[in-house]
Amino acid sequence: MSQVISIAPMMDYTDRHFRYVMRKMTKKTLLYTEMITTQAIIHGDRHKLLDFSEEEKPVSLQLGGDNEEELGECAKIGQEWGYDEINLNVGCPSSRVQNGNFGACLMAKPEIVAKCVEKMQKAVNIPVTVKHRIGIDNQDSYEDMVNFVKIVANSGCQKFIVHARKAWLQGLSPKENRDIPPLRYQDVYQLKQEFPHLTIEINGGITTMEETKHHLKFVDGVMIGRAAYDNPYLLASIDQEIYGETTPILTRQEIIESLYPYIDFWTAKKLKLNTIMRHLLQIFAKQSGTKQWKRYLSENGNTFNGGSDIVRQALKELVISN
Ligand SMILES: Cc1cc2nc3c(=O)[nH]c(=O)nc-3n(C[C@H](O)[C@H](O)[C@H](O)COP(=O)(O)O)c2cc1C
Repeated sequence: MSQVISIAPMMDYTDRHFRYVMRKMTKKTLLYTEMITTQAIIHGDRHKLLDFSEEEKPVSLQLGGDNEEELGECAKIGQEWGYDEINLNVGCPSSRVQNGNFGACLMAKPEIVAKCVEKMQKAVNIPVTVKHRIGIDNQDSYEDMVNFVKIVANSGCQKFIVHARKAWLQGLSPKENRDIPPLRYQDVYQLKQEFPHLTIEINGGITTMEETKHHLKFVDGVMIGRAAYDNPYLLASIDQEIYGETTPILTRQEIIESLYPYIDFWTAKKLKLNTIMRHLLQIFAKQSGTKQWKRYLSENGNTFNGGSDIVRQALKELVISN
């Protein structure tokens, strides 16, 4: 089965360490980078922006931009770097992104998106996909979205990930744009019916296994965002529950222990322990001891001196407190 579950691109969260941690919980799920702009890739430190570990694969590189030549060039760089898929961001409503004329405001310009996707697809032989909203501002009818998808699909894009709420480009912050506009799952289901040959993945507000399974009756895939952050252990049973894997589900402790070599490798290179551990602060969410775990790591993990020894102690604190 191809990857029917993915973990959403999330700026400042889905860095390489987050992905490595997630991979310990699920081998099958498609992971994303944060959005990286074409300008950053063309002019910035590519190793810092793009490097990742083989163990994280499959990984999709999400690009932000609206210039077809630059997007083509960056898609090619992404493929050469080893990414498995290139995704174009047509969902971010931040003012910084709007000033660059990309992200969600491109929903009003499907022809430009189509041209960009065509250039990107020509530059690589891995899939090029688009993540978008159901609409923006007053261009938010189901028909508007169908028009967008039709035009972009004509350029060769086969997979659309739809955040099932519109974005207001003025007046709401990016955070509010992830909470306030109502979710319209039915529109995404209908899109799949209308374009059965396309891969349609749904995103927005999905927080449990039951919800995930329910959506999969209507669409090809489910993308999970904030829930992977608030409750990362949710992902630990995805391979078994969704992909039918028969290997045992790892316990929280086993997941943490399996990361010790990775933690020690990076902290020996003078990475702050919590650069990795911040992605695991919530692994005991809703469990007794979660407070002690978080407190111990917050107090002891913001250091350049210490690796898995601190994590081992944090686990002991948790056991003692139970
Ligand atoms: C902190 C944060 C950063 C985000 N950064 C990106 C991003 O870089 N690119 C993108 O397409 N979406 C981004 N998103 C949106 C998510 O990918 C996702 O579409 C959204 O959170 C809705 O899914 P959820 O309800 O499962 O979280 C971000 C969301 C959050 C919470």
